Amino acid sequence: MLKVFSNIHFTPPPIWLMRQAGRYLPEYRALRKQAGGFLNLCYTPEFATEVTLQPIRRFDFDAAILFSDILVLPNALGQKVWFAEGEGPRLDPITNTQALSILNQSATGDIFSKVYEAITRIRSALAPEKALIGFCGAPWTVATYMVAGRGSPDQAAARSWAYNDPAGFQKLIDIITSTTIEHLSGQIKAGVNLVQLFDSWAGSLPEPEFNRWVVEPTIRIVTTIKNRHPEVPIIGFPRAAGVSAVHYCRQTKVDAVGCDTSMPLGFMSGELANTGVVLQGNLDPLLLVAGGNQMRQRIDEILEAMQGKRFIFNLGHGIVPQTPPEHVAELVAHVRSHTSNEA
Ligand code: CP3
Repeated sequence: MLKVFSNIHFTPPPIWLMRQAGRYLPEYRALRKQAGGFLNLCYTPEFATEVTLQPIRRFDFDAAILFSDILVLPNALGQKVWFAEGEGPRLDPITNTQALSILNQSATGDIFSKVYEAITRIRSALAPEKALIGFCGAPWTVATYMVAGRGSPDQAAARSWAYNDPAGFQKLIDIITSTTIEHLSGQIKAGVNLVQLFDSWAGSLPEPEFNRWVVEPTIRIVTTIKNRHPEVPIIGFPRAAGVSAVHYCRQTKVDAVGCDTSMPLGFMSGELANTGVVLQGNLDPLLLVAGGNQMRQRIDEILEAMQGKRFIFNLGHGIVPQTPPEHVAELVAHVRSHTSNEA
């Protein structure tokens, strides 16, 4: 588990980065080529283990995050998923209630067992003081990909289905929610120490729909996982939720909240921290690409604002492929050079 979950304030804070394994690392690109594609990396435990450990070896982060993807879950349910080179994910879209019949919740073991085998290997290769983070996409975000068949800037396909036929869309959300609970439990049993729920598109919904499609399924997931595994911290990442992040934290009872790039530091250290959650975030990934003095100054501002709070240093979203690895090393060194201002 990350030391920040022990209720003590740490200076410097623990650090890991979303998408810390990936195309910005030459050793990742080499292995991806050898594996013959992204999903082969995810589904071959030896490869998934190696890719998970690559950034830990290079940068000595405090946590490793399982190398997998949020779209492994629809794939395990029987939906066709593929990654077109240079184009991002593609799925055979599911656009109405009848099409839900292709999803088979009793068939997920074929794919999930590969993920759990990777977790067992990673946990035994990882130093005991390093946390291993498991994850799933949150149901709303996963649904946006399942319905559109690809990433979309406005999530229009899922939003339209949810407005036109909320009862039918609820069925899809329910299938994803219960499969997510099973997959997170499976990851925990295999050896992850904490889990993160990625709700990358939480920011695209008005308040009533935010409550129904983001908050409600997350409450179900957190409640069930807490019942089964009370010792495992849960990080929620309701990206771009803005002020609704306060309501999200209060209602869902996540232990920590991922703060996106746009979240003001005063809001994080004030209203959001007052909900009692651990904060995580939120350096702009493009400031990591820029590097240099600008990046170091912003790191200092974040660390000063989070002084005295329970805090995990991270980005506001994932590392982008054009990131120079040297800048990541510089970021880690700079965060670790930080000492308390308090006497
Ligand atoms: O953070 C990590 O290092 C762990 C692994 C991880 C990946 N994806 C690997 C990946 C995690 C936690 C994810 C989460 C994920 N996947 C999210 C939520 C976070 C976010 O970014 O908003 C989403 C929406 C996805 C779906 C997905 N997977 C997209 C949209 C893409 C294409 C974007 C891109 O960068 O190409 C992927 C592919 C993907 N997932 C890659 C990696 C390393 C790149 C694959 C490659 O090698 O080509």
